[in-house]
Amino acid sequence: MKALIFDLDGVLVFTDKFHYEAWKKTADKLGVYFDEVINNRLRGVSRAGSLEIILERYDGELSATEKDALMEEKNNTYLRLLDAMTPADVSNEVRSTLNELRQRGFALAIGSSSKNAGFILQKVQLSGAFDAVSDGNNITRSKPDPEVFLKAASLLGKAPHDCAVVEDAEAGIDAAKAGGMTAVGIGDAAGYAKADYTIRSFRELLEIELFSGYC
Ligand code: BG6
Ligand code: MG
Repeated sequence: MKALIFDLDGVLVFTDKFHYEAWKKTADKLGVYFDEVINNRLRGVSRAGSLEIILERYDGELSATEKDALMEEKNNTYLRLLDAMTPADVSNEVRSTLNELRQRGFALAIGSSSKNAGFILQKVQLSGAFDAVSDGNNITRSKPDPEVFLKAASLLGKAPHDCAVVEDAEAGIDAAKAGGMTAVGIGDAAGYAKADYTIRSFRELLEIELFSGYC
């Protein structure tokens, strides 16, 4: 039995707009320019890594304590925005594709950099869809390091070469490849040359050659 490991933000749910709104508030407070293009660079990057990207335009030095306070404030705003999520925030296409993959015998896991993955899965009622969740709470190194995916594979009891990762971030595709896994790019990562496969819609997962030998 093979396994599929899914990134969460930007693949199963579209939380980018909430990250943007929350980080924009932080940037405005600091008087730092921030837009959707910079927000795109935060895809797959840890909370601390995201703050460092925002601070590239900050003229000054912040202490570790000040950075922690900014991250906490950002996360509180983000959590308030996430609280409005409902099961309707996951498309029927995503739900039916996950069901079909399960019926075909794949083990399914989450491999997300987010420390809020469990909360999001609960809000959209997707927790029961996965055999394992590896997220920002159980890793010490962020994507493009493969740690989060290797932990997911290990939780599933699978060898990396038996796992395919579905990602919307280039850093996530790099992480999958660094971990010896197959990488499927979707959304922003669909045009990324390092992806082994590219899909334009989630249900294409059921069609790509990758799975023909498995089922
Ligand atoms: C990733 C997002 O899934 O999680 C990033 O793509 C985000 O944009 C990262 O920075 C960490 O998220 P959180 O919820 O732990 O702040
Ligand atoms: Mg993502």
